[in-house]
Amino acid sequence: MYSTRLLSSLAAFAAGVAADWPQDVSVDSFVATEHGIALQGALANIGPNGSQVPGAGAGFVVASPSKVNPNYFYTWSRDSALTLKTLVDEFLFGSKALQTYIEDYIHAQAVLQTVTNPSGSLLGSGLGLGEPKFNVDGTRFNGNWGRPQRDGPALRAIAIIEYSNWLISQGQSDKVKNVIWPIIQNDLSYVGQYWNSTGFDLWEETSGSSFFTTQNQYRSLVEGSTLASVLGVPCTGCSEAPNVLCFLQSYWNGEYMVANTNLQTTSRSGIDANTVLGPISVFDVDAACDSPSLQPCHSRVLANFKVFVDTFRDPSLYPINAGLPATSGVAVGRYPEDVYYNGNPWYLITLGAAEFLYDAAAQWSRQGFVTVDPTSLGFFNDLYPNVTVGTYKRCKKSDPFRKIVDAARTYADSFVAIVQTYTPSNGTLSEQFLKTAPGTPLSANALTWSFASFVTMAQRRAGQFPPSWVPTNTTVPVPGSCVASSTPGVYAPATAAGAPNVTQGCTSNVMFVVNATTYYGENVYLTGNTTDLGSWNLDNAQPMLASNYTGERPEWFVTVAMTAGEPVTYGYVRQENCGQPWIWEQLAQNRTLVVPACGNSTAVRLQTDDAWTGPTGQSGNC
Ligand code: NOJ
Ligand code: NOJ
Repeated sequence: MYSTRLLSSLAAFAAGVAADWPQDVSVDSFVATEHGIALQGALANIGPNGSQVPGAGAGFVVASPSKVNPNYFYTWSRDSALTLKTLVDEFLFGSKALQTYIEDYIHAQAVLQTVTNPSGSLLGSGLGLGEPKFNVDGTRFNGNWGRPQRDGPALRAIAIIEYSNWLISQGQSDKVKNVIWPIIQNDLSYVGQYWNSTGFDLWEETSGSSFFTTQNQYRSLVEGSTLASVLGVPCTGCSEAPNVLCFLQSYWNGEYMVANTNLQTTSRSGIDANTVLGPISVFDVDAACDSPSLQPCHSRVLANFKVFVDTFRDPSLYPINAGLPATSGVAVGRYPEDVYYNGNPWYLITLGAAEFLYDAAAQWSRQGFVTVDPTSLGFFNDLYPNVTVGTYKRCKKSDPFRKIVDAARTYADSFVAIVQTYTPSNGTLSEQFLKTAPGTPLSANALTWSFASFVTMAQRRAGQFPPSWVPTNTTVPVPGSCVASSTPGVYAPATAAGAPNVTQGCTSNVMFVVNATTYYGENVYLTGNTTDLGSWNLDNAQPMLASNYTGERPEWFVTVAMTAGEPVTYGYVRQENCGQPWIWEQLAQNRTLVVPACGNSTAVRLQTDDAWTGPTGQSGNC
C-alpha cells in the first residue's frame, strides 16, 4: 500500500506546520490541521484583503494567485460560487467572521451581473450571465474562451439562497426580498431560459449538455421556488424544474452517467469527475436514496462512482496508483482522456471522491438502512465482500448495515490519505499532482477550489451537513416524458444590492476586417479605447479570426457588439508565436470610427476594410 511514502511525507508535513507532531500522523490530525490551512488559503485568494491577490476587488474570488503557466488570475463564476457555498456552510456551522466575505460577494455579484461581456449583456435576454470568467477587478475579459458556461448562474443562486434562508431565520426577510432576491431572480431566469441550450462543461472544453450543469440547475430552480414562496414573490424560470429533472435522468447509459451529451463529436467515454462532483454539490443528508435529484447514495450514482474510480486504478493511466488494492482509494482526475498538463490527478477531485463517500454513509445512517440492488451491487461488493441484493437495516452492532457504513467511511479516509501523501509540508494545495512518482504538485498553485473542496470534505467527515433542500413530498415528480422547453427570463439590475442602474444598451455589431499577411503561429488582435476593445490593454484585446484567410486575401476579422453612436479609436496588433514582443501598427493617426445607430437586428451594421500598416512579424521558430 502507500504506507512508506505516506509516513515520510507525513513527517515532512508535520515538520512544516507543527514541529512536535508524531511521525504517524493520522488522517484525523491531518484533516484537523489542513482544514484550517485550507480555509485560510481560500480566504487569502479573495479581494480586497486577500494576501495572495492584490488588485482583486471586494468579494471577488480569484481562482489562483498563479499569473503564468497557467494564468488563473481571474474570477470564475463557478469557482467563486462553489467557494462561497463552502464559506456559507462554515458560517452556518459557527464561523461568524465569514459574514463580511459573504456580504462582499453578494454585492460584487450584483455588480458583475450588469457587466456586458463577450457572452452578451444582462438586459434583454440575460446572455451575459453565461460568461465564465472576468478580470479580478470585475471588468470584462475579451480573450478566446469556452463560452458560455451555464453552471455559473445556478451555482451562484444556490450559494446565495443558502445565506438568504439563514437571513430569513434571523427575521431579515425584507432584506432578502428587496436586496438579494433580484440577484437570484436574474440567475434563475437564466437557468429557466437556457437549461436546454448547449454550453461549455465545467472543464471549459466541450460544448453540449453537461450532467454537473443540469444537476445544479435543477437544484437552483427547486430552492428558488421554495424561497420565492416564502417571500411571496413569483419566480420566473422555476416552473422549468420538472423538465430539468426529467432531462437529468437521461445521462444514465445503463452503466454510468455519460458526463457530456449533445456534443458535435466526441472520442471520449463520458466517464468524468463531473458526475461525482455533481452529486456532492446537490447533497442533502435527508434526501431519500431513490430521489431523482441523484444523491450520492442513489444506486445509479454509486455504480457510476465505481466505474469512475476504477478507471483511474489502471497503472498505465496513473502510475502512482500501481499496487493500490481494489478496495482502497486512489488518486483520481477529471477524465481518462484528459491531456491538460498531460492529464493528472486533481486534489479537488480526489477530495471530492472522499466527500462523496462520507455523504453516502451519512445518508444511510440518517435513514437507518442500506439498499443494495443489482445496479449498485458491484459498488457494495468492494466495501463488503459477498454482500447480496437486499435491504440491510440498522439493528445490532455487528450487522451488515454497520459494516457497510463503516467500510464506506474507511474507504473515504483512504482517498484523504492519498491527498495527505501528496500535500506539501506547508499544506498548500495546487490544482494537480503528477501521475508518476513522486506525485509533485503541478499546474496552478494555491487553487481556491482545491482549498474549498478540502473544507467541504472535512465538514462532511465531521458530520456537518448543509441545510436540506430536496422536497420531502413529490412536489417535483419526474414527468413521464421529457419536454425541451424554455421560459423567457426577466432581467433587471439588482440596484438595491449595489448594481448600477444600467439601461438597455443599444448596441450595433461592427465587423472589423483587416488584411494582414501573417506567418503560421502568428495572431492578430484588435485593440482600442473602449472596454469592449480592452481599453488599449493587450492582455484584454479582442482575438481575431483567420478562417477567411487566403493567399490572395489575408483577412483577419472579428465581430464586436459595440455601444451605438460611440466614437471609437482602434488599431491592430500582432502577437508573435514565441513570446516575442507584440508588434503594433505604425500609423500617423489612430484609426477611428463611429458605431452606427442600432436597429432591432443582429446584423453587422458596419464593416471596416483595413490593411495592416506597419512592420510584419518574424517566426521565432520555437
Ligand atoms: C483552460 C481550462 O480551464 C481547462 O479546463 C482546459 O483543460 C484548458 N484550458 C485546455 O483547454
Ligand atoms: C480549469 C478548470 O477546468 C475549471 O473548471 C476551472 O473553473 C478553472 N480552471 C479555474 O480554476
